[in-house]
Amino acid sequence: MKLDEFLRLNAPDDLGALTSAIAKSSVDVWDSIPFKTGLLTETNPSGETQKAIDVFSNDLFVEALTSTGHAAEVASEEMEEPVESRGGVSVAMDPLDGSSNVETNNPLGSIFGFYSHRLPASGRSLVGALYVTYGTMLTLTFSFGKGVHRFVALREGDGMSFQLLGVNLKLPDKPEVYGFGGSRKEWVHGVARFWESLDGRGLRNRYCGTFIGDYNQVLAKGGIFSYPALVKKPRGKLRVLYECAPMAFINEQAGGYASDGSTNVLDLAPSGLAETSPLYIGSASLVREVEGSLASS
Ligand code: F6P
Ligand code: MN
Repeated sequence: MKLDEFLRLNAPDDLGALTSAIAKSSVDVWDSIPFKTGLLTETNPSGETQKAIDVFSNDLFVEALTSTGHAAEVASEEMEEPVESRGGVSVAMDPLDGSSNVETNNPLGSIFGFYSHRLPASGRSLVGALYVTYGTMLTLTFSFGKGVHRFVALREGDGMSFQLLGVNLKLPDKPEVYGFGGSRKEWVHGVARFWESLDGRGLRNRYCGTFIGDYNQVLAKGGIFSYPALVKKPRGKLRVLYECAPMAFINEQAGGYASDGSTNVLDLAPSGLAETSPLYIGSASLVREVEGSLASS
């Protein structure tokens, strides 16, 4: 089945239109990656150097989302302030996740949260979420609150079309892989202790350095991804609105659980657009275990 037909049957009009706009733009982002690797001198609001491809993908998605007439506002990891528009859905996005991986050709991603409230808002007001992988395949994985579904881009004539790859994706029962960000010596003790226990029980350490790439394998194989609390950065690195909550929404729909170490990520209520949180996400049993390890250390 093609994406547009699936959306017509399974998505509310507004989320369907926003998803369709993201799908079209993701092809342009993917095609542009080889041509946009030069460094610009600006930094984004979090102080990271922006690359041309970050700016390009940000502007492309803002334009595509606002053109649907269904976005109330679009907030982005790459902008200080949201762009106001005239629809009903607040969109929060990380337009190019893992952009420091461009040169090494590791996977990249894009993340979108669809919120029913003005931003910043709690993950409980998410009505849908989506992520794009620019990896071996260009895929869209999304949920509108009734399961997690995936489409893959295939060449069709001069363009691309998105074909159904899987419906109702679920994390496998037996977890297989783990990947933790940051430097090991900076992790808080409860994280380091939990991490050391994983190898001994047959899980494999797999880390590519892009949240989306690292989470995507957890969804396929079961396991845990974390960008944890660091001793000097107890609130971690990943942004609640743009990264943690949308992925927690999808992960929960796939039967998993995401925590900030003690609280369900979907219950966090960020007071600012760029607020960060430690993130432990994937198979529920492992995430509960890391919560336990943190509580007892
Ligand atoms: O968005 C930030 C990001 O690029 C994530 O995609 C990734 O998980 C993380 O940073 C990697 O950080 P580090 O290089 O510190 O492990
Ligand atoms: Mn990111």
